[in-house]
Formats: sequence, C-alpha cells, structure tokens
Amino acid sequence: MTYKRFKRGVKRRVINQAVNVRNFFLDLLRGKQKKYISEFGPLAEVQKRGELRTDICDHLPTLFAQVLASRPKLIVELGVRGGESTFVFERAAQITNSSLLSVDMNDCRDVSNWSRWNFVQSDDIKFAKEFPEYAAGKGWEAQIDLLFIDTSHEYNHTVAEINAWFPYLSSNATVIFHDTNLRELYKRRDGSWGLGWDNERGVIRAIEEYVGKKFQENKNFVEVVNGWVIQHEPVCQGFTILKKYGN
Ligand SMILES: C[S@@+](CC[C@H](N)C(=O)[O-])C[C@H]1O[C@@H](n2cnc3c(N)ncnc32)[C@H](O)[C@@H]1O
Repeated sequence: MTYKRFKRGVKRRVINQAVNVRNFFLDLLRGKQKKYISEFGPLAEVQKRGELRTDICDHLPTLFAQVLASRPKLIVELGVRGGESTFVFERAAQITNSSLLSVDMNDCRDVSNWSRWNFVQSDDIKFAKEFPEYAAGKGWEAQIDLLFIDTSHEYNHTVAEINAWFPYLSSNATVIFHDTNLRELYKRRDGSWGLGWDNERGVIRAIEEYVGKKFQENKNFVEVVNGWVIQHEPVCQGFTILKKYGN
C-alpha cells in the first residue's frame, strides 16, 4: 500500500467517524425526525422507503412525482445496485402504465419481483448499441421518455452515457441525473451527513458541457438553456432534472 492510499484511508475513517457522531447526536437531541407521509398509498410507500438514510433518500418522492407528471411510455434506469430508485420506478410505472427497463453491469435481478420489470445485466455503453434491437423484441419504440442516470459518477463515463443514450430521447423527454453534487461529505435535508467521495464534479461537468453553461451545484437552481428546463437540488449528493421543452 502506498503512503498516499494509507493517508486517504485514514482520512476516510476519520470522516466516517465524524458522520456517525454527528448523526448520533442529531437523533439524540432532536429525536429521529418523522418525514411527511402522503395519503396516496404508492407515494406513502416511497416516502417510507426514503426514511432510511441513504445517498438518494431525499430524492425518492421527487423521482416518483416526475414519473407521474411526465407519464412516460418508456422509462430507462441506468444503475440499480440495491434498488432504491427501482423501488420508486416500479410503483410509479404501475400507475402510469409505463414500461420499465433497468440496466446494471452487476447482477441485480433479485432487486424486484415485479413481473413487468425488465432487467439487463450489461455495461450501459455497450448495451446502448443493442437497445433498438432489444426494444423491438419487446414491441417498444426505441424512444425513451424518462432516462435516469445513476452509475459510475465519473466524468468520462457520464459523457459517454450522454452520447450513447441521448439520441434515443423522445421529443419531450425528461432526463434525471443523481450525484451531481458529489463530495466526500454530503448533507441530507434532515441535517444528517453521509460519506461520499470526490468525483471531481464528474456528472455536473458532463451536463455543463452538454448544455453549454456552468452551474453552481452546491445551490438550488432552475435554469432554461438550449431547449432544456433544468432543476437542481444540491442535497443528498445532488439531483438534476433536465426536461426538453423545444427551442
Ligand atoms: C450508485 S449505484 C445505483 C444506485 C441505485 N440507482 C439506487 O437508487 O439504489 C451505481 C450502480 O451503477 C452500476 N454501474 C456502474 N458503472 C456501470 C456501467 N458502466 N454500466 C452499467 N452499470 C454500471 C454499478 O454496478 C452500481 O450498481
């Protein structure tokens, strides 16, 4: 092990301890905060799932709302892991009668047992080339109405994802990126902290270059640029929604 890696390991352990201490005292002093729960059953399920502190918990209800508001025919999710976002898409897609396709390089097939869930284990850039044939096999148009990107968070890979998947977007598509404000230490809305990593602005930088505008990803913003309406929330590693509106 190099000295640099050793130093980095120590630093992360110290930050992790700080995160645990902060969250412990936060809960002790204020009591674990109850989040708002809707009377609309599927949304309530999503909100309850979001009570578990994860790197995406603050954004689950927004993700649900985006699906209902955009009524997509086809949702494509890149990055499944333990299935936080998949849980949301599964519930929302049943309401909007959308087809749902999830892609991950790892085997995530046990994440959902919804009979209409489609999972492909593949590198997402490789699979993008095969997508039209896959869609035809399913009887779908190779047009994506809602694309969710939550994979490596690395700059080169995000640029490659934009190049590989954006050509399939429908004329009024929505694209959602997670991890657009990824840092070694991130904050949630309830004041708790989480341990992230520094991706050197990889995801937001790829978006900036695509739309041709710089952003301050540590602040909330709404922007309209080059045919896109862009909404950004910095909490919980950052969540950025791009909606096509036409020029
Ligand atoms: C942050 S996790 C996804 C979290 C998930 N969306 C959730 O809400 O729980 C990132 C996932 O992206 C996957 N991934 C990373 N690089 C990938 C690639 N090139 N192609 C496909 N999947 C990839 C990883 O295997 C991992 O499961």
